[in-house]
Amino acid sequence: MLARSIVGEDGRILLKGGIRLRCSYIERLRRLDIPAVYILDPGEKYVPSEIVPERVRAHAVQQVKEAFEAVAIGRPFCVHAIEETVDRLLDEILATRSPILGLEEIRAQDAYTYRHSVNVCVISLLLGITLGLSMGQLRELGVGALLHDIGKVHVPPEILRKTGPLSQEETDLMRRHTKWGYDHLRAYPDLSILSARVAWQHHERLDGSGYPLGVRADRIHLYSRLVMVADVYDAMTSERPYRAGLDPLDVLRHLQRLSGQLFASDVVDALAQVVSPYPRGARVLLNTGEVAKVIEVNPALLERPRVRILETSRPDRLSVPFEIDLQRDISRSICKVIRE
Ligand SMILES: [Fe+2]
Repeated sequence: MLARSIVGEDGRILLKGGIRLRCSYIERLRRLDIPAVYILDPGEKYVPSEIVPERVRAHAVQQVKEAFEAVAIGRPFCVHAIEETVDRLLDEILATRSPILGLEEIRAQDAYTYRHSVNVCVISLLLGITLGLSMGQLRELGVGALLHDIGKVHVPPEILRKTGPLSQEETDLMRRHTKWGYDHLRAYPDLSILSARVAWQHHERLDGSGYPLGVRADRIHLYSRLVMVADVYDAMTSERPYRAGLDPLDVLRHLQRLSGQLFASDVVDALAQVVSPYPRGARVLLNTGEVAKVIEVNPALLERPRVRILETSRPDRLSVPFEIDLQRDISRSICKVIRE
């Protein structure tokens, strides 16, 4: 049984979560190049758990795609449509009680830039909410986050797609996407200059080691300080054609080590609040050798969620999956996320 709905590039739901997979469906998914799907384990009920529903997320991906494609051919994009998209994402996030990010949904790889833009927007909004930004600020932040990489439309695709190290010349071209994006966005009278600055500054770092200008903390706007953390977090945790996504907790710890030096410490602290190292649905390995699935995240104790034990270290011992609250059972702890 499918644990998550599968949404096509155009936002249509291809298969609804909860449906029993038949051979014909699996064949169709193969033809559509869907690399993997989420499957329910025995005894588990279908519970949609995303912070943003697939349909809203897919719509946002489509809007970003249209904006990028317009800019690529020298046409203006519709600022109103982007603002509306941010409002919809914001509505969904604010309506969600639990401030926990679900596992990233699986899609065909070629939409990475658009999907990444939407992820960065969602994460930035969560960070902004945690840090107490006003609705007006959240909208400006969301628009900036959604379009932060729009300057990439002018970077040659072979450089964007290159998986090996870039030459100096290629690096220079790649880095220009910041200024190109800013120059483009600031030309829109309806778009806040602060949103445009996100495109310009999202690769700057507090200690001045970033680009394009190498400015220090006090010259980097709050929105950019949020988006740079969201950008790095999503890029590092995402599955790419040339490498597996890194474990969210490793990425969070990496960011925590650089907190105050490269990244704003209040923003990294906010990330620890909203990003669960072991999100609901994640398959994890326990110190006992058991394999478990995260059922419910405890926001106060992110590392000790409620889990369902699926496999013991001796598979012959387990007949029925059972649940354990790691907050109570302190003899057990999570070692790592298992990626299938
Ligand atoms: Fe970028």
